[in-house]
Amino acid sequence: MCGIIGYVGELDSGGQTDGGAVDSVGAIVHEGLRNLEYRGYDSAGVALVGASSGLTVAKRSGEVDGLTVPDVPDATHGVGHTRWSTHGPPTDANAHPHTDCAGDVAVVHNGIVENYEALKAELSDHEFTSDTDTEVIPHLIEEELAADPDADLLAAVRRVEDRLEGSYAICAVREGNDRIIVARRGSPLVLGRGENASFVASDVTAFLEHTRDVTYLEDGDVAALSPDGVEIVARGEPVEREVETVTWEADAAEKGGYDHYMRKEIHEQPESLRQTLAGRLDVDAGDVDLDVSFPPGFLADLEEIRIVACGTSYYAGRYAARLFEDLAGVRATVEIASEYEFGAGRTPDRTLVVAVTQSGETADTLGAVRRANAAGARTFAVTNTLGSTVTREVDGTAFIRAGPEIGVAATKTFASQVATLAMLAVAVGRDRGALGAADARSVLEDLRGLPGAVQQVLDEEEQVREAAREYGDGEAFFFVGRALGVPVALEGALKLKEISYDHAEGFAAGELKHGPLALVTPETPVLAVLTDGARADETMNNVTEAQTRGAPALGCVSAGDEYDTLDVSFEVPDVGVVEPLVANVYLQLFAYHVANDKGRAIDKPRNLAKSVTVE
Ligand code: AGP
Repeated sequence: MCGIIGYVGELDSGGQTDGGAVDSVGAIVHEGLRNLEYRGYDSAGVALVGASSGLTVAKRSGEVDGLTVPDVPDATHGVGHTRWSTHGPPTDANAHPHTDCAGDVAVVHNGIVENYEALKAELSDHEFTSDTDTEVIPHLIEEELAADPDADLLAAVRRVEDRLEGSYAICAVREGNDRIIVARRGSPLVLGRGENASFVASDVTAFLEHTRDVTYLEDGDVAALSPDGVEIVARGEPVEREVETVTWEADAAEKGGYDHYMRKEIHEQPESLRQTLAGRLDVDAGDVDLDVSFPPGFLADLEEIRIVACGTSYYAGRYAARLFEDLAGVRATVEIASEYEFGAGRTPDRTLVVAVTQSGETADTLGAVRRANAAGARTFAVTNTLGSTVTREVDGTAFIRAGPEIGVAATKTFASQVATLAMLAVAVGRDRGALGAADARSVLEDLRGLPGAVQQVLDEEEQVREAAREYGDGEAFFFVGRALGVPVALEGALKLKEISYDHAEGFAAGELKHGPLALVTPETPVLAVLTDGARADETMNNVTEAQTRGAPALGCVSAGDEYDTLDVSFEVPDVGVVEPLVANVYLQLFAYHVANDKGRAIDKPRNLAKSVTVE
């Protein structure tokens, strides 16, 4: 995810509290950017405001260490940003900060302005220099300041905020103004309260060497930072927010206070899913805007969608294949990328080969894409990584916008892959006339409910922790489901085996009795997906077969349903077609706590790599 740092302070009094050499505002901001590097980024930049030198901006694609921060001796405050591309490729022009036409206002921004196209259209007399959604913000501020020259930057930002749709954290600075103005809606921002200095950042890691006294902003807060402190406004009224003292060390702070990146990333899913969906759903119209296009008539004539992927991405593909068949009325098959051949009896120009890969660099998946291209098929990628190799080799791409994932075990990227593929299935179904507006609306409503439903599951983590303690010593673990529950069962088993090193297998529940049942004993817990979209009653029959052989049974069950014989029942909120995906969050947490209780190297499991770049 993108990172933000801002600093305003009196340098002659040290501008520092807990230590750390302070040379200049630029040095503090640059150091803050280095502290944010762990989040992943593709470009970086700073804006410094000098008492008499005005606004100076420097930005570029590439590494923070390659960014030359200008020497502005009279700088009183500044902001910096590390960008992870979502709108527009990682170029110098798209790096933050962005400025208005006059170059007086600079803005850094995390999140997505969903209505930026409409806003940009209204700003037709302004000169835009980037492809980003962010750039509308400084131009809107410029408009507000032109309309009311007496307005200060705080008032202008508040008025602009009213016009933005989406989720964001914003920091704005202006020439001739001595404060940093920040606003939060849906994207985190934390203020650092130093002695004669104030900081703002997307997470405390950015300024931890300077102060541990922090205030977390709430959604809807706008704040003005000066060396004397912060002024916070919510719904037009001044408010006080608690000052807390951070006790974590920097290493833990990078993980947001979690012990492992994996658990942090599991907990990031409501936010990452919001980013995945932002600006793409038109629920009322039953439409999706994924910003992808196909040649005229291509989707209507489509004979087959073939998904190629590995590991977790392969399971996301299995989930999606069912959605393509159900929603888009097109044959959809999924193949393990390393096994893929174009195959006889298929028509290249009526086949869409979809590569699902969070990294965009997996050698097996790239090999499959190359074979599909060589056969003359149209290729498409669903990936998390702008500029990755796969994006350069396919005909079209949809980005999942999950933000960087550091834990080797994929979690939030799986959720965002499935959500993106579900939107693609709706888009293809609508284009082909296979999906009516009412049915599309229903799926999009399910998707809209996804972040909230995942949050509800995360709020039940203690129940999962207890279940992991009670059942985590099993000799082996079997995960079962039907329909959309099958890929989730497979993914649940993969997560557990990757990080706990326990033997775990996923099965289509109906297959249990065709062989695997021989393995079932009182020492082999069975975990089942018993939700909408996963043929819960039939799956429960198979779970009962395992229970009859003494196996403990844990189930993820749709809210309102009950299976009295389960040993543990995890409630899954009502979100229709994405309920199995929400159930998966319980399985992620189960895997995490089993592995954590065993003291495993969760973020870097033995023998595994995050990105597998060899065939
Ligand atoms: C999942 O936890 C693993 N890290 C692995 O299976 C991964 O999903 C697979 O290697 C594919 O990676 P990709 O999505 O980057 O192509």
